[in-house]
Amino acid sequence: MASESKLNTQGRPIILIGLMGCGKTTVGKELSKQTGMPLLDMDSVIEEQIGKPIADIFRDEGEAHFRALETALLRYLESEEGCNICRNSIISTGGGVVLRPENREILRRLGFTVWLSVDVDILISRTMRNNNRPLLRRPDREEVLNQLLIQRSPMYAETAHLKLDSSDLDIPAVVREVYKSAQAFFSA
Ligand code: S3P
Repeated sequence: MASESKLNTQGRPIILIGLMGCGKTTVGKELSKQTGMPLLDMDSVIEEQIGKPIADIFRDEGEAHFRALETALLRYLESEEGCNICRNSIISTGGGVVLRPENREILRRLGFTVWLSVDVDILISRTMRNNNRPLLRRPDREEVLNQLLIQRSPMYAETAHLKLDSSDLDIPAVVREVYKSAQAFFSA
């Protein structure tokens, strides 16, 4: 990556969206390492702000409250002050960030938004590895992921500038594709 021409995003972020387990955080970390652009993980920012894990926010305050926190963070990132934080950054989002129409609009305005689309079988096997996602703490996890895919796919499609089918790609290949597409997007 270092040998390629430097990525000029004109101060705007690259944003990764998609279902739980699609690789947003892993790809975001690698892209950040290779480009030197800082990674802003929305879930981590919210956890730090509230002082507890997402699962505890869901348990204590409920999902609707968490969704309001996501919107508040996006509004902040779009504000003059927050703009400095997300300038030239990679933003990794929570899988449900597209549920609110306002969020979808902000994400599309804010930067180059990429939907990492992955087969449900892969999502299932990846999300088996930990139990920190409140929506998947149930025995019918496979059914839940299938339903979320049906419900959210149109929302990801509406939000993203690019849908990247990444089931058959390893992480370095996904990173390369996002990088190349961002280069084309920002120089158009
Ligand atoms: C959620 C996805 C999670 C986290 C929360 C809700 C969702 O993020 O924001 O558990 O609604 O899909 P990841 O997609 O990073 O797991």
